[in-house]
Amino acid sequence: MSPYKYSTLAVHAGQYPDPRTGAVNVPVYLSSTFELTGIGSDRGWDYSRAGNPTRDRLEEALAALEGGSSGHAFTSGMAAIMALVQPLHAGDHLLCSHNVYAGTVRLFNTYVRNYGIDIEYVDTSKPEAVEAAMRPSTKLVHVETPSNPTMVLSDIGAIGEIAHAKGAEVSVDNTFMSPVLQSPLALGADIVMHSTTKYLNGHSDGIGGALIGSKPEHKERFLLVQKAAGGIMSPFECFLVLRGIKTMPLRIRQHEENGRAVAEFLAAHKKVSRLAYPGLKSHPQYELACRQQKGFGSMLSFDIGNRDAAGRFMGALKIFINAESLGGVESLASHSATTTHAALTDAERAAAGITEGMIRLSIGIEDKEDLIADLDQALAAV
Ligand SMILES: Cc1ncc(COP(=O)(O)O)c(C=O)c1O
Repeated sequence: MSPYKYSTLAVHAGQYPDPRTGAVNVPVYLSSTFELTGIGSDRGWDYSRAGNPTRDRLEEALAALEGGSSGHAFTSGMAAIMALVQPLHAGDHLLCSHNVYAGTVRLFNTYVRNYGIDIEYVDTSKPEAVEAAMRPSTKLVHVETPSNPTMVLSDIGAIGEIAHAKGAEVSVDNTFMSPVLQSPLALGADIVMHSTTKYLNGHSDGIGGALIGSKPEHKERFLLVQKAAGGIMSPFECFLVLRGIKTMPLRIRQHEENGRAVAEFLAAHKKVSRLAYPGLKSHPQYELACRQQKGFGSMLSFDIGNRDAAGRFMGALKIFINAESLGGVESLASHSATTTHAALTDAERAAAGITEGMIRLSIGIEDKEDLIADLDQALAAV
């Protein structure tokens, strides 16, 4: 346990002055290979796929921010998810939240399933459904909470107890909350996954992913996946994420303040229905959000009636940008059915509760009054 508070960790964990030069920022080591000191000896690095000094610092920071024992940086969030399931064997059973990011479903159904891994989707918002789906061959329960874009929560502690009783591990996609607002390992998960593309980078200028393990065995497991499969984050991207991390707690405070203000505005608007934001008392899992999260974040979704209305709303926005992704300083709006969840079949989308009128907002750090005014005028255009 670190003696330091979170904002201090964000600035300093892994980000100490360079021992050789005193550089305050972590140097970017753009070197694929490293001089060896003899036969079978080196200075700690031999080849950048296996390890790179810049990546080491980011991985140290990630482990500290999630309270884990090791961090592992990958070239994208999807590469991190692939690395998570790569050590599974044919015949292993993988339970996955039924309303995860559609890219996760695409990866699992298109590729991972072909390797003989038995993948089953379950409504992880109901711990009893997880319990009923567990089998002797279940090795991993992969949970995304809150879910994208429906903002349905799963109880990490309850799922941890169920999985551990059967000898399985729990991984949590913590992308929507960021390490600042939710600590899955402290709640009982074994592995945390992030798309660093989102709040960790925070500026929409890079793609990356991470896994954070809680046991020494995870370090061995994921170091080997990095070295063997090679989906590692580049040193320059590591630098960008390290830079983003320093201001993450500060950014998240503003994201959150704006998220709450926008949610309250939308909750009172007559053209808005099915507003999903865990910080509203009307959210069916408000109590779980208060217990499990350290805040409510800045992601929300709502229904505006139909595809046509969604198109008019999106076309009228002036500050919000019509774009996929989330967690950057700028506010984004996206039509889930044709963007983030386009990879699903109509039936899968319906099962996940994603309608043609659904809009997802990622609330940025602009002035909240400007954001509300923008939404107000765009809703007037519908
Ligand atoms: C919750 C979640 N997990 C994983 C991913 C995949 O991350 P990446 O786009 O960095 O590969 C995303 C991307 O939007 C996401 O929203």
